[in-house]
Amino acid sequence: MENLISLVNKIQRACTALGDHGEESALPTLWDALPSIAVVGGQSSGKSSVLESVVGKDFLPRGSGIVTRRPLVLQLHRTDEGGEYAEFMHLPRKRFTDFAAVRKEISDETDRETGRSSKQISSVPIHLSIYSPNVVNLTLIDLPGLTKVAVEGQPDSIVQDIENMVRSFIEKPNCIILAISPANQDLATSDAIKISREVDPRGERTFGVLTKIDLMDKGTNAVDILEGKSYKLQFPWIGVVNRSQADINKSVDMIAARRREREYFANTPEYKHLAHRMGSEHLGKMLSKHLETVIKSRIPSLQSLISKTIAELESELSRLGRPVATDAGGKLYMILEICRTFDQIFKEHLDGVRPGGDK
Ligand code: GDP
Ligand code: NA
Ligand code: MG
Repeated sequence: MENLISLVNKIQRACTALGDHGEESALPTLWDALPSIAVVGGQSSGKSSVLESVVGKDFLPRGSGIVTRRPLVLQLHRTDEGGEYAEFMHLPRKRFTDFAAVRKEISDETDRETGRSSKQISSVPIHLSIYSPNVVNLTLIDLPGLTKVAVEGQPDSIVQDIENMVRSFIEKPNCIILAISPANQDLATSDAIKISREVDPRGERTFGVLTKIDLMDKGTNAVDILEGKSYKLQFPWIGVVNRSQADINKSVDMIAARRREREYFANTPEYKHLAHRMGSEHLGKMLSKHLETVIKSRIPSLQSLISKTIAELESELSRLGRPVATDAGGKLYMILEICRTFDQIFKEHLDGVRPGGDK
């Protein structure tokens, strides 16, 4: 059977492809029902670094200030065909093999929507897929970093606008929150913890990630946090050591960075006992496994939503009258086909897992 995460990825893309016709059908509800993972944290907490480490590629725009100004929906697809490439949904037939060009396209596409000079943000997502033998199947949403004050050239409303946008993603019960906090700042001041606690007070869908462990003051360590004694979440905290700015400037590659990260945890006496559940590689695998579990548990409700969507699309299409030559009609047909495929696959899956069902 096809991997569940890649199936859900397809529904997600299909929902987005419908674009402004989404309001006419059950698809927005369907999109909200799909489990996803959103990355949240303060500016410079290490969000982009964590994403790049999980992907094992250097591809995100960098710099000071608000670099991420639109949500980036990043779908990772594990392929066995050796090749590594990226595709944007807004450039359907273009394959990127040069990841520096991916970075440039993210930043150009951000400017296209928000305007180059204004420091504005937009909640219209950019969709990027990465195909590689070195990734786990995963969908991650990168969000603008939370800030405390507007700086030169930014509208005063930007602090609140970012917070509202982040909240609109993470308040959905199906959103898994990847809350990024830097270890060299007091956890009590963490923007990630503050906002995730608001929407998930019992920490049932929040994964705490502690970055910059290598930058802590001498004589202090993160053991209490990593052991869940400082702030308890349902899932264990994960510590990471990303590339420093100096590493990035020297173009230290991701493979070397991951190896160094592994060695850091294995060789630091305080963290030795935790080493097996630390680091970006572990984070990626754990998130993928968790996402798959969550999707499995949601299959029955997804299936009933899909049946409802099929019914609505069918009546929408008959209202439009067949055959429909317009683009909108074409898209509706496409979504309908995808939904029917899902319906079928989910049914087969349920047969497979039901006790006594024929395998
Ligand atoms: P974002 O604004 O949350 O996306 O943060 P970035 O990922 O861009 O990181 C901000 C800065 O912190 C960059 O210069 C990174 O190199 C640095 N950084 C992030 N994580 C770590 C870490 O674990 N260790 C060290 N030494 N530097 C880090
Ligand atoms: Na940044
Ligand atoms: Mg960033």
